[in-house]
Amino acid sequence: MTHREKPQFDVLIVGSGGAGLSLALRLADHYTVGVLAKFALTECSTFYAQGGISAVLDDRHDSVESHVEDTLVAGAGLCNPDVVRLTAGKARENIEWLRQQGVHFTEFKDAEGHSQLHLNREGGHSHRRIVHSDDATGKAVALSLIERAQAHGNISLLENHNMVELITTDKLGHADKRICGAYVLDIATGNVKSIAAKIIVLATGGANKVYLYSTNPHISTGDGIALAWRAGCRVANMEFMQFHPTCLYHPSARSFLISEAVRGEGGRLILPNGERFMHRYDERMELAPRDIVARAIDNEIKTHGFDCVYLDISHKSREFIRQHFPTIYSQCLELDIDISQQPIPVVPAAHYTCGGVMTDINARTDIPGLYAIGEVACTGLHGANRMASNSLLECLVFAEQAHLDIVRQFDKLPPPPTLPQWDESQVTDSDEEVVIAHNWDELRRFMWDYVGIVRTSKRLERAMNRLLLLKDEITEYYGQFRITSDLLELRNLVIVAELIIRSAQQRKESRGLHFIKDYPEPCTDNPPQNTILIPERAGIAPTRV
Ligand code: FAD
Ligand code: SIN
Repeated sequence: MTHREKPQFDVLIVGSGGAGLSLALRLADHYTVGVLAKFALTECSTFYAQGGISAVLDDRHDSVESHVEDTLVAGAGLCNPDVVRLTAGKARENIEWLRQQGVHFTEFKDAEGHSQLHLNREGGHSHRRIVHSDDATGKAVALSLIERAQAHGNISLLENHNMVELITTDKLGHADKRICGAYVLDIATGNVKSIAAKIIVLATGGANKVYLYSTNPHISTGDGIALAWRAGCRVANMEFMQFHPTCLYHPSARSFLISEAVRGEGGRLILPNGERFMHRYDERMELAPRDIVARAIDNEIKTHGFDCVYLDISHKSREFIRQHFPTIYSQCLELDIDISQQPIPVVPAAHYTCGGVMTDINARTDIPGLYAIGEVACTGLHGANRMASNSLLECLVFAEQAHLDIVRQFDKLPPPPTLPQWDESQVTDSDEEVVIAHNWDELRRFMWDYVGIVRTSKRLERAMNRLLLLKDEITEYYGQFRITSDLLELRNLVIVAELIIRSAQQRKESRGLHFIKDYPEPCTDNPPQNTILIPERAGIAPTRV
């Protein structure tokens, strides 16, 4: 920070996950970089990623074209082929970049005794191409990047700092509209700071906590999407929320994922009576893309009234399981589930936000100086359904794209103007915190029940009616009381929920992750279109800027 009272950075990055920190490290030799994390640096989806990062490294059996093709097939007609080619084509060099940052990936010795990276297989991929660190890839990536960032003199890591609102020059009375800073809540002190920056990069992750059951950590409340939307950016494809098929079903471990790599190594989905069922849904069985597997499980659970189905890998030896899945093995064992002897109870849970803030191939949003990278962005890579392990890859490739573009743009942008202080003169401390807790719960429950894996027009309408009531209540509350992190998150979740429901209502067909019973087939009359929502046409929630 250049000054204690008037904090300012060349580039302010919102998010300490794989996207945010890899960009920070690429920029830091030339610019001052501030990185905000809502809570601890490690509290992000990146840290919890298990399966790995897709990259074509086996030139004898695999090819970048095949990776492109698999991604396009999973995306069900809505991927941007240029973005897919760019991303798949840059995978190898980005894996190398991570190794240079100190990330250790699992290796094996080939027939000639040379060390090679071990490659896993996951759903939708026609070859083994998932680079991984055992079954805790995200932890290895996150810890290495954090260590490098902490050691870099040009990077300021600000934990427990929650971005409240973006500031654009037009709001300060300038004729042009570009990004110039943000209001940020310092959670430890309760003060709101104005932080100036020429460039701001949203790397805030997904919005999956909008659902009652999710594999994600607490931070995934769609803040970046709501911030960008309120600032005037377009948001696309929000109906494509991905549900991971296999989240551990256990009262003490609600968000623990059982990696798709378990199915890649032969794990079988079974009903409580031991019967396999995936053959009734797809010839690829357990390795069909996620939307198909999640819907199949949802259907079995709802048809038979089961609490869960089971994932069985117990036909493999204990040694194999412990070697390939040490984290999953030990986490389940702590809960008295020995996965080498018994099947694992699993249910689907909200996992990944395919839509988000619209960006171009350089990670630029609609506002000059504002970029979006990682899960918060809709780059065109995933289309209607993200293929497993393409997300961490997207974080890395688009951090690189943003880096190159920021270097090109930086000197052309004027310095940010002096920012106003946050105005608290009209608000008091809340005496009704219960409203927040209640509304959080209500929102996430009706999103799960009405806007989940299988949708109907009627349920979407019900969800929208409830949403609008909640939105009014929260807007009123926000206008009256001093902000807290919970209030900010709830306010953002309400916006994200509205964007999801509106997008789902606009898509009168089933495609990829969006399955709606009233329109069970994809529409073939016209080429498929992205669902693009534009703030000026949809009405923007009032802000206190
Ligand atoms: P995150 O890593 O989620 O980081 C978001 C950051 O933004 C956090 O630091 C957070 O504090 C900060 N933030 C958010 N809002 C604010 C705010 N208002 N103010 C300040 N800071 C804010 N993908 C794969 O490719 N391979 C896998 O194997 C894989 N496994 C997964 C397993 C699990 C359990 C989960 C949950 C996801 C998995 N994914 C996987 C998806 C992938 O991990 C994520 O999509 C990816 O890590 C997102 O990275 P990110 O940097 O965009 O966001
Ligand atoms: C997993 O390990 O199953 C998660 C992979 C992903 O979300 O890409």
